Amino acid sequence: MKPKLIVSRPIYPEVIERLKIDFEVTAHQTDPEWSIDRWTQALSQHDAALTMGIETVNEAVLAACPRLRMCANLSVGYNNFDVPAMSRHKVLATNAPDVLTETTADFGFALLMAAARRVTESERYIREGHWQKWALESFAGMAVHGSTLGIIGMGRIGQAIAKRGAHGFNMRVIYHNRSRLSASDETACKAAYVSKQALLQQADHVVLVLPYSKESHHTIGAAELAMMKPTATLVNIARGGIIDDAALAKALASGHIAAAGLDVFEGEPKLHPDLLKVPNAVLTPHIGSSTRATRLAMANLAADNLIAFFKNGSALTPLNPEVLAHS
Ligand code: DGY
Repeated sequence: MKPKLIVSRPIYPEVIERLKIDFEVTAHQTDPEWSIDRWTQALSQHDAALTMGIETVNEAVLAACPRLRMCANLSVGYNNFDVPAMSRHKVLATNAPDVLTETTADFGFALLMAAARRVTESERYIREGHWQKWALESFAGMAVHGSTLGIIGMGRIGQAIAKRGAHGFNMRVIYHNRSRLSASDETACKAAYVSKQALLQQADHVVLVLPYSKESHHTIGAAELAMMKPTATLVNIARGGIIDDAALAKALASGHIAAAGLDVFEGEPKLHPDLLKVPNAVLTPHIGSSTRATRLAMANLAADNLIAFFKNGSALTPLNPEVLAHS
C-alpha cells in the first residue's frame, strides 16, 4: 500500500506525476478555500502533505491527525508550522530553502528600484493620461547606486541582496541580524554589522528579509519608521506582520519616509486599506520567488523531501531532524 499524500493547492502536473510513483496522491488542482476545519479533516485522512507555506499545522491540527507523518512546505518560510508541536507528534517538517535565493534577491532589488525611482507611480501617471510635457524634476526619485543599503535579516537571501548592492551598485551595505556573520561572509558581502537603530538611522534603503515569528512581529512599527530618513525607502519581501502596515501607511502618507516596496502584507491576501491609497507604495502579491523555473524547483524539492522520507527515512532539508532518528 502506498502512503496517502495530500497536495493542498495546484502545483505543476509533472510534479504530481513524480509523486504518484510513490504515493496515493490527493491533488487539489483547483485552489480550495481551506477553512481550518476542512483542512484538518482532509489532512487527517493522509500520511503526508505537500503544503504551500500557508496551511496551518499546529497542536490542535496535529492532535486531530494521528496518522500524519510528514508535511513538506514548498516555501522557504515555515511560519505556518508549529515545529516544536510537530516534533512532539513525531511529524517531520521540511521547507524549500536555497533554490529560491537568487530569484527572491532579484525581486527584492526590483522592488527597491521601483520604489526608489518611482516606477509604478510614474507608470500610472502615463496610463491615466496625465503626461503632457517633459519636466526637469518630474518624478524625482532617490538614488540607488552609491547609497547606503540596510538589510535586516542576513540569511541566504539577505546576503544575495547585499552582494547585488555592494558589487553591482557600489552601495555601502550595513546589516542587522540575530547573529553576526563570519568575517569571510561579511567580506564577501562587503557588509558591516550595526545595531537596528543605527541601520534605520543611516540607511537610504531598508530591506527586510527576516523570518516571521512572535519575536519579529512588528519589527518595523511607528517608532522605527520615525527613526528612518524622510528620503528612505522600505522593502518587505519577508512576511506580512513584520511591518505594522497601519503605521507604514501613515508614514508614507505623511512623508515620514519616501516610499515602500511591499510583496507581503499583514493578513494577506487582504491589505490594509490605507496602503492602497498611498501612491508611494509599490504593491505586489507575494511573488518574490515567482519565476516558473524557481517555483518548479521549489515544488520538486518538496517532492524530493517526501520521497526521501518515505523511501529511506531521510530528508534533504528537515526542520526537525530529531524526528528522523525516530522514524
Ligand atoms: C517562501 O518561500 O517563503 C516564499 O515567500 C513563498 O511563500
